[in-house]
Amino acid sequence: MKTLILFSTRDGQTREIASYLASELKEQGVYADVVNLNRANEIAWQDYERVVIGASIRYGHFHPALYRFVKKHLDVLNTLPGAFYSVNLVARKAEKRTPQTNSYTRKFLLNSPWQPDLCAVFAGALRYPRYRWYDRFMIRLIMKMTGGETDTHKEVVYTDWGQVASFAREVAQLTSDSRVK
Ligand SMILES: Cc1cc2nc3c(=O)[nH]c(=O)nc-3n(C[C@H](O)[C@H](O)[C@H](O)COP(=O)(O)O)c2cc1C
Repeated sequence: MKTLILFSTRDGQTREIASYLASELKEQGVYADVVNLNRANEIAWQDYERVVIGASIRYGHFHPALYRFVKKHLDVLNTLPGAFYSVNLVARKAEKRTPQTNSYTRKFLLNSPWQPDLCAVFAGALRYPRYRWYDRFMIRLIMKMTGGETDTHKEVVYTDWGQVASFAREVAQLTSDSRVK
């Protein structure tokens, strides 16, 4: 049995985190498939003993595909031990990096019909040179207002890979027996 890691990304950081998570799980003898949630049409759910879903924030929202996926697969998601992680730039500040203190994540957990057994919030990446001018302008404005990086030549990865590794250890422990409900 394997672990299914699904990701919803716009610029790739959530996928990078998913791949890192998979490699950390492998260290512990746990094998994982990493799949783009947008391309997950036919899933062989019977092959999986747990599921992880990761999604990033853009302009205050997760991609609508996340909610569609959860709605479509709710019955099977409820039968599997599950974990969720969110990726955003607010989380570059440690005090905004927990499911309770990160407003996007808190809102998701409050409203989602799927209630994961585990949840983490990771800081994402800021990659000015890769953004279209409008996004670069808007992100720079937000960074300026929140005391972040404003040099548009820079690419900064804020993800704490140690935090991802420790999440991987928790995910590896997630079994049907350890579920809270
Ligand atoms: C156009 C744009 C809008 C963003 N909006 C937000 C936001 O509202 N709040 C936030 O915390 N981070 C925001 N971010 C930061 C992203 O969440 C961060 O770059 C993350 O690493 C993106 O993950 P992805 O590459 O998997 O899509 C935004 C980034 C971009 C490019």
